[in-house]
Amino acid sequence: MIRIDSVTKRYPDGTVAVDRLSLEIPDRSITVLVGPSGCGKTTTLRMINRMVEPSEGTISLDGVDIGRQPVNSLRRSMGYVIQNAGLFPHRTIVDNIATVPRLLGWTKQKARERARELMERVGLDAALARRYPYQLSGGQQQRVGVARALAADPPVLLMDEPFSAVDPVVRKGLQEELLRIQEELGKTIVFVTHDIDEAIRLGTMVAVMRTGGRLAQFAPPAELLSSPADAFVEDFLGADRGIRRLSFFPSGALPLEKTPIVALDASAEQIASRSSTDAPYLLVTAVDGKPLGWSEPGDLIAGDIEPERLLPYGRPFEYGKDSLRAALDCAVLSPTGWAVAVDGAGRVVGVVSQQTIGEAIRSAHAAGRADEKVAG
Ligand SMILES: Nc1ncnc2c1ncn2[C@@H]1O[C@H](COP(=O)(O)OP(=O)(O)OP(=O)(O)O)[C@@H](O)[C@H]1O
Ligand SMILES: [Mg+2]
Repeated sequence: MIRIDSVTKRYPDGTVAVDRLSLEIPDRSITVLVGPSGCGKTTTLRMINRMVEPSEGTISLDGVDIGRQPVNSLRRSMGYVIQNAGLFPHRTIVDNIATVPRLLGWTKQKARERARELMERVGLDAALARRYPYQLSGGQQQRVGVARALAADPPVLLMDEPFSAVDPVVRKGLQEELLRIQEELGKTIVFVTHDIDEAIRLGTMVAVMRTGGRLAQFAPPAELLSSPADAFVEDFLGADRGIRRLSFFPSGALPLEKTPIVALDASAEQIASRSSTDAPYLLVTAVDGKPLGWSEPGDLIAGDIEPERLLPYGRPFEYGKDSLRAALDCAVLSPTGWAVAVDGAGRVVGVVSQQTIGEAIRSAHAAGRADEKVAG
């Protein structure tokens, strides 16, 4: 465990970048430092691997003061990833990744083998191995940066705004990749960002820092959203805190309606028996159970349902896997106000009205159970 104990950093010109910061960074999880520009995030990260020395206080790793550890071995136990990857421009991708193993005295062949293995792990095509950094996209370069930091298999990864320079779609892919790598390899990751959404998506624990280098709150993301410590944190979380919090409630407790659903080949009796005043629309599915669209029951003629004339069903949510946020989004986008729940194979398992989702949200908030992080 990394423990930051009452650490202050005062730069020679008198700037206090970090002010009496104390944090316990749990092993084998992602801890995010987030806060506005200049609040001391980079300084904190750099003190962990002694690129910057604290003015006061101590940082320890597994109970040992890092100030007493040789800098070289300390840094080898910590991979470092920065924005724009910071790759060596005159080295090929494979040799960039092999840098630290080579420094550690591995043979060229063994280091390159390791590099190729890591390329696969971070989702890079093996064909890129012989290219130079300028021949890669920003997102690919960032993946190389992560692979290079992992090369000597350090227990700790320090990441300073690694994904800020890429577009939102690529960024989401990199975030998912990092979560997967973390799950597979169990690294202790300290991740710096100024983007609260990224902090919430990635962090097991999130430290919100404020200007002047002081800690505003240290909590799991669901707790930040439900109980911000003060007005600064609340403001930093943004106006849609309530909606964001729904990402932490699973959709599996939603009561689904199974009646207002008919298959494309439904008989007139089936259409009649599945219509009710509770649900003014019927969802039509293909014969394999996948959704096709909504219709008013009176517009459906047995044996002659035209899929292209149905109302669009929007984006379905995966029941149990996606969150209440995804279910609500689905209902809001649906022209009927009803959301479509599907299983992992995309087959309809039921439908649910906006009103029912609203009730589920109210009881979830009341129960305050936002402990489980779910996708979507
Ligand atoms: N070498 C330095 N000498 C003097 N002041 C410094 C030095 N490095 C950083 N600072 C100051 O310390 C404060 C914290 O800087 P730091 O780089 O840690 O912030 P940050 O949270 O990483 O910001 P950003 O989000 O913009 O990267 C800032 O006021 C900065 O100007
Ligand atoms: Mg910074």
